[in-house]
Amino acid sequence: MNFRSKKLTGDWTLDMEACRFPAAGPLRFPFDPVSEKWSIGRPSNLRFCSSASAELRLFGNGDNQGTQNRMFILGLGFVGEFVAQDLVNQGWIVSGTCTNVSKKARLEKLGFNVHLFDAIEPKLEVINILNQHTHLLISIPPMKDIGDPMLQHAELLRKKLNNQHLQWLCYLSTTSVYGDCGGAWVDENYEPNPESELAKLRLAAEEGWLSLGHDVGVASHIFRLGGIYGPGRSAIDTIIKQGSLSDVQRGRSLKKYTARIHVSDICNALNESIRKPYPGRIYNIVDDDPAPRTQVFSFAHKLINEKWGSEIKKRDENESFSLKLKGEKRVVNTRMKNELGVKLIHPSYKSGLQTISDQMHHL
Ligand SMILES: NC(=O)c1ccc[n+]([C@@H]2O[C@H](COP(=O)([O-])OP(=O)(O)OC[C@H]3O[C@@H](n4cnc5c(N)ncnc54)[C@H](OP(=O)(O)O)[C@@H]3O)[C@@H](O)[C@H]2O)c1
Repeated sequence: MNFRSKKLTGDWTLDMEACRFPAAGPLRFPFDPVSEKWSIGRPSNLRFCSSASAELRLFGNGDNQGTQNRMFILGLGFVGEFVAQDLVNQGWIVSGTCTNVSKKARLEKLGFNVHLFDAIEPKLEVINILNQHTHLLISIPPMKDIGDPMLQHAELLRKKLNNQHLQWLCYLSTTSVYGDCGGAWVDENYEPNPESELAKLRLAAEEGWLSLGHDVGVASHIFRLGGIYGPGRSAIDTIIKQGSLSDVQRGRSLKKYTARIHVSDICNALNESIRKPYPGRIYNIVDDDPAPRTQVFSFAHKLINEKWGSEIKKRDENESFSLKLKGEKRVVNTRMKNELGVKLIHPSYKSGLQTISDQMHHL
């Protein structure tokens, strides 16, 4: 199904009552269905209604709706936990899921409402709670031989979810959906060509969440993330732990270009997307510097040596790798910057790693 063209051929009317235009300035129609472009400076709290009854709310951060913003995060993993903390700091109510009891207890101490949840057998009670939230972040990855575990229950979700409260969702995907592009610069218009089974399942999950969001009238977004790093998960941590590289890390070591993104900038981009919803939109979320992993590791070694001298022995970067060179691409982040207005906190791994090193007080 062509999600975007289906969405745009609907009979859209502007719900004037629901709109609160800025006090000054000309009235501008925010989205041109022909060019498929937003006009610049669109009001953030417009609401469109299609005569076909599906109401699609585009009312910014919802502050002026008299209700508190409530985020539900399916999968409070590495990114999920950072996002949750970031939003709690901004006064949001944050709920989410994880799969084990001790983690649930730890997360609850941080002020989140946490539900034990297995996406393969989702509890109805949790889906009903999710539907009481204004925003939804999906961070559970697809599973081999299964695909997106939540989307196995897409019909149930179609029945249970609605836009009474829920207005925005984002599915966290990966730049691996593009496959091996021979070193080309790749923006969101590049035809995905996933190679691995997981990357194919990922692309199917993207389509599934866009389609579900459309059907239940919720503005849906896809974030294609580069390799995620941040405090506790970085080249510095890998060197300090002296652990052996995972297959994915070995694969990255062989790439001339590697897309990456600091977790603070994922939060940064999510905040901007919440302020500027754009139903059905896909964004590459990567930094400006697709440097090879070997460079990143050399820099991490330098930072460690400056801070801890020779306490940490240098990793042997000449480990023999059995994997072939794959997934060559340089991922373009122009849409993220131009449409969402994201100003990267860490445009390069250098500032990202420097901050991580500065914040580490002992080994
Ligand atoms: N790591 C990267 O470099 C990278 C790059 C691009 C995209 N991504 C994707 O971006 C998303 C966020 O990344 P991340 O690093 O934050 O992932 P993560 O730390 O692995 O977190 C994944 C979350 O999904 C939950 N989960 C996994 N299987 C589940 C199931 N069957 N039922 C219910 N919950 C389940 C986990 O539960 P527990 O908390 O109980 O473990 C965890 O909360 C993921 O989809 C990831 O694959 C990752």
